[in-house]
Amino acid sequence: MQDRTPSPESLEPIERASVDEIRALQLQRLQDTVRRTYANVPHYRAAFDAAGVHPDDIRQLSDLARLPFTTKSDLRDNYPFGMFAVPREQVSRVHASSGTTGKATVVGYTKQDITTWAGLMARSLRAGGVRPSDRVHVAYGYGLFTGGLGAHYGAEALGCTVIPVSGGMTERQVTLIRDFEPEVIMVTPSYMLAIVDEMERQGVDPASTSLRVGVFGAEPWTTDMRAAMEQRLDLHAVDIYGLSEVMGPGVAMECVDTKDGLHVWEDHFYPEIIDPITDEVLPDGREGELVFTSLTKEAMPVIRYRTRDLTRLLPGTARPMRRIQKITGRTDDMIILRGVNLFPTQIEELILQTPALSAHFQCVLHRDHGPMDEMTVHVERRPDATAADAEAAATSLRTLVKNVIGVSVVVRVLEPEGVERSAGKMRRVVDRRPAR
Ligand code: DLL
Repeated sequence: MQDRTPSPESLEPIERASVDEIRALQLQRLQDTVRRTYANVPHYRAAFDAAGVHPDDIRQLSDLARLPFTTKSDLRDNYPFGMFAVPREQVSRVHASSGTTGKATVVGYTKQDITTWAGLMARSLRAGGVRPSDRVHVAYGYGLFTGGLGAHYGAEALGCTVIPVSGGMTERQVTLIRDFEPEVIMVTPSYMLAIVDEMERQGVDPASTSLRVGVFGAEPWTTDMRAAMEQRLDLHAVDIYGLSEVMGPGVAMECVDTKDGLHVWEDHFYPEIIDPITDEVLPDGREGELVFTSLTKEAMPVIRYRTRDLTRLLPGTARPMRRIQKITGRTDDMIILRGVNLFPTQIEELILQTPALSAHFQCVLHRDHGPMDEMTVHVERRPDATAADAEAAATSLRTLVKNVIGVSVVVRVLEPEGVERSAGKMRRVVDRRPAR
């Protein structure tokens, strides 16, 4: 694989600052953000008043813990524009979450917010091994989803040639990769797998394409998946994290030289980890729910926004900013099966250890045989695996799940293409249990 480490001179000064310098900048920006939200957003003023805290009480970073959390339902209750801290005329763009789990949540950006976001995406891409002269194939969806436009503006800001393909039309994705020869692809890891399958169907060796870097995010994926992708595609597979409520992609990014978790751009976002049950702030290193406070956003600042993503905070390595470990999953995607907690990422790891199976899978919850919850893992045999291989693979996956996770599941090995495909985020958990 090509060495893609950015030169130290190409980094921004803050990427080389000391931890003390970063903390000082954070405090100053936090105080400003808290003042602006209190003054301009009725929801925050009411929430701070109810908690008995005033912006003047924020004297050090640890005072943040005195402020109330913000949740997705606070955003929904203020739908569509009630969380904006600037007059609507100053909002130059809105995005929204898909709203599959309820009413959509709307987020807004001033011109300056768009510039900041593009700058942070450019920083993220550079850290991930993307260079100004690269061609960047963007297969994240364009539209209300932040993936496509976020990637697009960032790659432009870095000085790349952007190919705005969006998601879908998989055959054409492969044609464009062959014809335009991009060095970089930005896409969800699950859709990358579908593109790789299509390459193989067209007789294109995935390892022979022009692609050198894959910037994969918007959904959880494991380090085993990284190894599989890097081997199959002969590229650097790096992880990018973000969420619309906090900005969009580019809140945290993995560095290509270390691939050891994602550096949070702490000059713009203050991370905390809390116990999702007791709400207590946990020390760095402990796993819990990730919470963010924005430090520079103008149109829609967020204070202690609960992401529902589970991870831990680790010290900086390639950059002075702290890292988050690869996301294990969302609290909403945690499956509790007969008392055992499990995440789809754990199933992914075990599938990748089973050579006859491809990495497309879904966890289907049901109650087909009585009152007990059951889970069937729907997975596919690889095109080159026989029916007998598939049967053996089902047995071995079932045993692995039992031994490693400690729960019995049913494994159904489907034909290739048998598991539903998504051109964006893959739905890993399908709940078919009747309401009690
Ligand atoms: O998915 C933003 C994004 C676009 C990130 C493109 C990276 C690349 P939302 O649609 O608001 O925004 O969904 C945010 O997706 O809370 C996580 O649960 C999940 N997520 C995003 N990135 C990762 C990642 C975009 N790298 C939600 N690993 C977040 C695991 C991720 N989960």
